[in-house]
Amino acid sequence: MTMRILGIETSCDESGVAVIEVSGSHTKPLVRVLANVVSSQVKLHAKFGGVVPNLAKREHQRNLVPILLTALKEAGLRNPNFEIRISKLIKNSKLQILNYTLEREPELLKQFTNKILPLAMPKIDAIAVTYGPGLAPALWVGVNFAKALSLIWNKPVIPVNHLEGHIYTNLLPVNWKIQNSGFRIQNFLFPALCLIVSGGHTELVFIKKYGSYKIIGETLDDAAGEAFDKVAKMLGLGYPGGPKISKLAESFKIKNLKFKISLPRPMIKSNDYKFSFSGLKTAVLYFLQFHTEFLKSKAGKAAVACEFQKAAVDVLVSKTIRAAKEYKVKTLMIGGGVAANKLLRERLASESKNKLLHTTFYLPPTNVTGDNALMIGIAAVFGKNKKTRRELRAEPNLRLGS
Ligand code: KG4
Ligand code: ZN
Repeated sequence: MTMRILGIETSCDESGVAVIEVSGSHTKPLVRVLANVVSSQVKLHAKFGGVVPNLAKREHQRNLVPILLTALKEAGLRNPNFEIRISKLIKNSKLQILNYTLEREPELLKQFTNKILPLAMPKIDAIAVTYGPGLAPALWVGVNFAKALSLIWNKPVIPVNHLEGHIYTNLLPVNWKIQNSGFRIQNFLFPALCLIVSGGHTELVFIKKYGSYKIIGETLDDAAGEAFDKVAKMLGLGYPGGPKISKLAESFKIKNLKFKISLPRPMIKSNDYKFSFSGLKTAVLYFLQFHTEFLKSKAGKAAVACEFQKAAVDVLVSKTIRAAKEYKVKTLMIGGGVAANKLLRERLASESKNKLLHTTFYLPPTNVTGDNALMIGIAAVFGKNKKTRRELRAEPNLRLGS
């Protein structure tokens, strides 16, 4: 059976719409990515040094209809010749519900009425949408958009946990983008462990089987990505800080003895899988207050970026490898925005090769580590939320498991 899923992502500052097609057997399905459109608001939020929730809501409202139209076109699911004034065929009662569904997103409602109602119904089978965790105002736009499409096209909604999306990016092959005829999914061996590292989360997730998760440790305060962003701000690098810290750190010459700095590795020796990045961030702050000369040159800033990145990666890698051993997992993977970090990828790859002899290590392609709707479509197939629900709410604090 072939199933086409439309994915929608609006949990933070990227608006995403994707279309995937899944066919073949359950054990080795064939996946085709028909479209994956992401519209980033990063530049807009950069002016404020971080994501502003209500601005994100406004931008998602503006972006969703245009990117849906682009995604349907890319997927070959739009034929303007067949577009008819469906709105005339839609019962008044449905239009009333539509107005009610999008009542808090007036700009989206306007575009929906003008551009989506006249569309011929595209051949999709379900609408997958991120319903949490994330920023409430941002999540609601996606959820209400999915509900509106579900109403008009009469298709079920599959609610997806954003973090499940990050986990299942590991199922994508590196060259997924150019495999037009699709790729077979290489199923994970279970149990598996995923280190989720993003702007809002840092957690080690034990995965017993598809859709079954247990958080075995998480950050007590800041997320890893958040610490990268805050340290970048201290160094005057701008937002988002992760990629900027990483690039600057690479330029640092270890033999540069003029700039010596040593930072703590918080909780690296603690007997659990908890993390703490707030102390590391504060250590950088105090260090810079006493060593202002580091801020006066690129080399000085690079020294701080390099040591901070090393400290964060040391802790993440050490605890992840220890957890993988203790839980005897057959598969290890990472996901989330910080999974793009080169040092983290290299260190985890080499340590798992040397220390975990019975574990397969996966890395997600770097073009899907940031937020996108493709991962939401994939998670709708492999994740927990297979049931469809009509009454759906955004859940900003949604968790993956116990
Ligand atoms: O998963 P994501 O796109 O959004 C959330 O769900 O939070 O993660 C964004 C985070 C930001 O904090 C960003 O600075 C960080 O991922 N990030 C990185 C890198 N690329 C993005 N952190 C370290 N190194 C990178 N190369
Ligand atoms: Zn994310």
